[in-house]
Amino acid sequence: MTPFFKKLFPIIFKYIEENIQQDTPVVHFETHDVLKSQLNLAIGEEGVSVDELLMFIENQYLKYSVRTGHRQFFNQLFGGFSSVGFLGDVVTSLTNTSMYTYEVAPVAALLEKEVLNKMLSLVGFKHGDGTFVTGGSNANYMALLCARNKTDPTIKKRGFANSALVLFVSDQAHYSFERAADLLGIGSNNLVKIKTDNNGQMMVDELNKEIVRHLEQGKKPFFVAATAGTTVLGAFDPIDEIAQLAKQYDMWFHIDGAFGASVLLSRQHKYLLDGSELADSLTWDAHKMMGATLMCSAFLIKEPNFLKQTCAVGGTEYLYHDEDECYDLGQISLQCGRRVDVLKLWLLWKHYGDRGYEACIDHVFELAKYANQQVAEHPNLELMTPTQSLNICFRYRPNSQTDINTFNLALREQLRRSGKTLVNYAIIKGNVVIRLVIVNFELSKTDIDTFFANVLSVAKTLS
Ligand SMILES: Cc1ncc(COP(=O)(O)O)c(C=O)c1O
Repeated sequence: MTPFFKKLFPIIFKYIEENIQQDTPVVHFETHDVLKSQLNLAIGEEGVSVDELLMFIENQYLKYSVRTGHRQFFNQLFGGFSSVGFLGDVVTSLTNTSMYTYEVAPVAALLEKEVLNKMLSLVGFKHGDGTFVTGGSNANYMALLCARNKTDPTIKKRGFANSALVLFVSDQAHYSFERAADLLGIGSNNLVKIKTDNNGQMMVDELNKEIVRHLEQGKKPFFVAATAGTTVLGAFDPIDEIAQLAKQYDMWFHIDGAFGASVLLSRQHKYLLDGSELADSLTWDAHKMMGATLMCSAFLIKEPNFLKQTCAVGGTEYLYHDEDECYDLGQISLQCGRRVDVLKLWLLWKHYGDRGYEACIDHVFELAKYANQQVAEHPNLELMTPTQSLNICFRYRPNSQTDINTFNLALREQLRRSGKTLVNYAIIKGNVVIRLVIVNFELSKTDIDTFFANVLSVAKTLS
């Protein structure tokens, strides 16, 4: 082993071991001004040694970075440390190639097809197609792009002005749709947000009304997205009913399953995506509920060849030759160079098998149920919406007269600064809610107990 690796490995081992030690903070919090003064950020005219870089990594980068593998990290729709995912990332860097052609990524291209076919079959797109993308946002963008080109195949070359196209998502949908509508020239004013009920699910009668209203105004409804696992509440829109309306009005039907599509791996929970085979396309982030390291996202489409048609442009002859056409995956991607994101997921899936993955998903659902109970049973904790999946949105009700939103913001901020627990908050219908997300497969009930103990002890100091 070279001296470099001899020095690097202990740093990595130490970091991973510390993740599970009780007294390790999930974040060593500093404000940006203070942090800036602590870090040696400037790049000089003269370089520095590799030893100096290793010192920076150990004493500065790792010290102040958030430990997303820590058992008190509940802040995002991802979390946990996976050694198999880490292996995938290391080998991806080791082999450092690009997914665009079979010629430079032969094994990765075959792996990507294998994994996508497995995902397609779970969704119910028998002859579908798919590609890995840079994230769920990008997958949603591709869905809208395909729908736009399907609605008017001339737009791709002609472009368009004064679009009459309108699209529909719920008022809980991810912001990437608004950005995609903007980028694709559809205009974010032509995105209609449909009201949701108390569970955070799209109200289908409202959708119907809005479609009719826009038709009457001479608009062209062309796209509707159901969210399977909304960002804040973890809610699943009624897929069957939305699919029926999409069919009735001849609209592209997309499912944003960035967070929730992974429930397809569980026989117990896959009913949440019943009807997925009726969709035209689907977004699936394996870096969320499947525990793959970031980023690991797929865009799946039912109609074979349409992705290729959508992505096709001229000037590619230098890269794509005829020999390996069906494995030159750059031809069905919006990117040219593309990182190998599939290896970590393939390794994880191979390691767990379908049944192992199912057990992991069922486990985090069980823990979410347990957390839900802890909230329900505590006199000062209030559940803000019913828990449908892995997001528990709650707040603390202080006994004092303090404004409840101000109190919960302060509580959350104190938790962040304490480094004991990192959890996020959101605003639902004007209320500040603490959003606990349980996605880390390694967690146990004890970690959930520790979370609530931390919340309650900080709340006590604020009361
Ligand atoms: C429902 C939903 N869709 C899309 C996205 C965007 O995913 P990504 O961060 O992979 O771009 C998110 C992100 O949290 C999400 O919750």
